[in-house]
Amino acid sequence: MLSGTQGLLFVLALSLLSICAQQSVGRVTLENGVKSKVYLSPKITQHPGSVSNKFYYDIEFPKGHIAIKSFNAEVVDEEGNPVSLQETYLHHWVAVRYYQRKGIKEPKYNGNLGFHQSDFVIARNAGVCSKGLTQFFGLGSETRKTDTHVPDPYGIEVGNPLQVPNGYEEKWLFNVHAIDTRGAVDAMGCTECRCNLYNVTEDEYGRPLKPDYVGGLFCCYDGTQCKVKNGVQSVKRNLYLKYTVEWVDWSDSIIPVNIYIFDVTDTWENTGIHDCLIEFNVEKNENANDFTSIRRSKASFPISGDVVYGAAHLHSGGIGSALYGEDGHVICSSKAIYGEGNEAGNEAGYIVGMTTCYPKPGSIKITKDEVLTLESNYSSEKSHTGVMGLFYILVAESSSTLDASVQIHQDSVVPIFFWGVSVFGLAIFAAVVVSYRRQRQSEDGYHSISTST
Ligand SMILES: *[C@@H]1O[C@H](CO)[C@@H](O)[C@H](O)[C@H]1NC(C)=O
Ligand SMILES: *[C@@H]1O[C@H](CO)[C@@H](O)[C@H](O)[C@H]1NC(C)=O
Repeated sequence: MLSGTQGLLFVLALSLLSICAQQSVGRVTLENGVKSKVYLSPKITQHPGSVSNKFYYDIEFPKGHIAIKSFNAEVVDEEGNPVSLQETYLHHWVAVRYYQRKGIKEPKYNGNLGFHQSDFVIARNAGVCSKGLTQFFGLGSETRKTDTHVPDPYGIEVGNPLQVPNGYEEKWLFNVHAIDTRGAVDAMGCTECRCNLYNVTEDEYGRPLKPDYVGGLFCCYDGTQCKVKNGVQSVKRNLYLKYTVEWVDWSDSIIPVNIYIFDVTDTWENTGIHDCLIEFNVEKNENANDFTSIRRSKASFPISGDVVYGAAHLHSGGIGSALYGEDGHVICSSKAIYGEGNEAGNEAGYIVGMTTCYPKPGSIKITKDEVLTLESNYSSEKSHTGVMGLFYILVAESSSTLDASVQIHQDSVVPIFFWGVSVFGLAIFAAVVVSYRRQRQSEDGYHSISTST
């Protein structure tokens, strides 16, 4: 995919990585007014069976008041070659926007730091979960073959100085969760975070796991080790999340879109609160002709607008997912694309892409307070642990409601809209979610990122 010169630059850039923690690859390129740049995350060191689930603060990101047009990523090795999911399973990556008080020391890599929450606030997407799933962008194993481009005339507005509170700067963080399954006794089991394979009885914070907790993020946190075959050598290697961002400079001709993420575990229908649990398990169906396990949740929608884009996030075993309007019409249906070979981007047994929706502008509308239904289908031919059912849509707010919110927020430092992009939620946020529960604080309308204390 890279041309010769780009490839060379890429290798050179990578070789500098031993010196620099983070290094963008090449320059900004311009095509039809769209700028594009390739970046590398900080180094991710792995060995067979290892799990890396780290937070990287203040990642490289395009500067200025811009509209994001696409955000793609993949795992590469030190030579810049794509790494197969069969070697390193990309459980998820998410990019989260936050505001950091000026003059505060940058947090070091890792999730488990304490922050003064007033120094560090998440500038989240537009909804709908009340905690977690705050990211603008994010995907997992499907990242190589899932379209993320935002069609014209729409864009995800970021870097608007008027939205950043006084004394703060806008920054971005990554959470990347990668599982090295080379030499694993049960590679799929490692990717599903089955607790028995990780020899884990306590979560990341030393709290005992419930006996019925058989798999999920609490068993494959940073530094855990999945079981590998006897005799497998523990050879370290360094990887990077390579991410490509496309954007245009902000202008009045761009129609901003809001990012919404729905979760099939959202308890809203029963509790009235968008408690998004992120993960669930699929039980094996022992005796049926139909091996489809269907799960549904409902959520009322906060604004009126036009759907511009939609895509689901599922884990292995996932079949498809759809979002329905209150009268039952399909807003978007997104299906899992499985690989069929061994090469990166086509790994057999793994979801390598999700189909997406680009409705004809104005053809799919959602109205304020409409109750939407999310449906996620998994195969129950085998049991699955720690799977997810998320749905990500971009919505351009109808002009009438847009004008109203502009007036309401005119003299407020709170971002008028939390446009963004985000995709999947990633479980990543399990860690954030835990403390977020304890430390929830929204007096200024932001959400704390604090992850410990
Ligand atoms: C599993 O964990 C226990 C206690 O943490 C440890 O004693 C044991 O050696 C571990 N087993 C393996 C196979 O790593
Ligand atoms: C889920 O499965 C049911 C039953 O097979 C089917 O009717 C429905 O269309 C499926 N939904 C999606 C989104 O694939």
